Amino acid sequence: MDKLVIEGGLPLHGDVRIAGSKNATLPLMAAAVIAPGQTVIQNVPRLVDIHTLGKVIAHLGVTVEHDDDKVVMDATATPSDTAPYDLVRKMRASFYMLGALLARLGHAKVSMPGGCAWGPRPVDIHLKGLKALGASVELEGGYVLADSRQMNGGRFVLDFPSVGATVNLLLAVSTLEKETILENVAREPEITNLIRMLNRMGARIEGANTSQLVILGSRDLKPLSFAVIPDRIEAGTYMAAVGRCGGDVMLRGADPEHLTMVLAKAAEAGIKFTVTTEGIRIQRENDLRSVDVETAVYPGFPTDMQAQWIALMTAAAGVSLVTDTIYTDRFTHVAELMRLGAEIKMKGHTAKVYGPTQLTGAPVMSTDLRASASLVIAALAAKGRTDILRVYHLDRGYERLEDKFERIGARIRREQE
Ligand code: UD1
Repeated sequence: MDKLVIEGGLPLHGDVRIAGSKNATLPLMAAAVIAPGQTVIQNVPRLVDIHTLGKVIAHLGVTVEHDDDKVVMDATATPSDTAPYDLVRKMRASFYMLGALLARLGHAKVSMPGGCAWGPRPVDIHLKGLKALGASVELEGGYVLADSRQMNGGRFVLDFPSVGATVNLLLAVSTLEKETILENVAREPEITNLIRMLNRMGARIEGANTSQLVILGSRDLKPLSFAVIPDRIEAGTYMAAVGRCGGDVMLRGADPEHLTMVLAKAAEAGIKFTVTTEGIRIQRENDLRSVDVETAVYPGFPTDMQAQWIALMTAAAGVSLVTDTIYTDRFTHVAELMRLGAEIKMKGHTAKVYGPTQLTGAPVMSTDLRASASLVIAALAAKGRTDILRVYHLDRGYERLEDKFERIGARIRREQE
């Protein structure tokens, strides 16, 4: 197993190229299974999660080739309808195969995903939606057995604007030639990216960026070449690192439109940002002010930035309240940040961060993807050496993280544990 060794305390200067979005790529790969023929997805980040979904899709009989920042998929052959437990349990987004296979074949057998490091993550809304639209759905031996051949469309209101449920339902009805109206859907940029791709493939989906979608599918969806949007969470993570360590960094290719709330909060905290045609320039020279955040569905503050925000707020004068309303148990990083000297008290699903604190290096363990990112930020600012164990979590979601940080002046290297 690899670990990261970081000697902290240096400001960050230079350029970081923001990769394509992981969470946007996964639904696009699922959509490529629906259309017979060759689909090329561009600006794909080179990440373990992308390869994991690639393996699930290849298991179904679709050819998947990774070529630098492209994924080339050939879904000419009819895929198998079964996504087995062994593969699905490695990553929850494999559950997107349910919607994709229903659209392509009309039937699917997909393993129920398990929980994850920060608690149970149900899929009840995905299944309720399919049933409401006329599909049959049964659970058997840990698998979802679904048949959409009698699906009629109609109207479904999601209990909560779940990203995953919105993706699965969009995929499932994308070949249905009857109108479907989905209300209270997720509006994340990753959803809008998927809608654009499905529309280019031949579906008619209206309402992108809003909470109501009107969908008219097509049985004749066509393969295509399509590019992934930049990763707003990767950009936000580098922003928080520059904010914590000080410095001046250009986030090349980042899209400010997708980061409105995060940038507004950063500005409140005293981080300067300038939007240019190349991306977003982040500068931090002065002391930081404490700023409270509460996570919410898009366009609110993303839960995927909560851990990094806590790391940032350890530098701010005063008390910051950081509340996660989306994943209320997602605070495993707090105890590890405290090993580095952070002063944090937990009350329910709110972290009270007292600052500013001088962090000092220590061995710490990462427990999930964004928790790991917050430890990297803290370690980059800490005096002395920090060893971050279990780096495989970071490799799931951050492309060449240590190279990118090294290029902007950090002392960071990968070693064997
Ligand atoms: C996606 C992202 C993840 C991000 C999350 C919230 C991907 C691959 N993952 O996860 O990084 O943290 O959005 O922005 O894109 N819920 C239910 N029932 C359901 C589905 C969800 O109760 O059927 C609840 C969840 O427990 C959670 C909330 O809804 O409290 C949000 O979940 P959801 O938006 O579905 O997250 P994911 O799609 O799993």
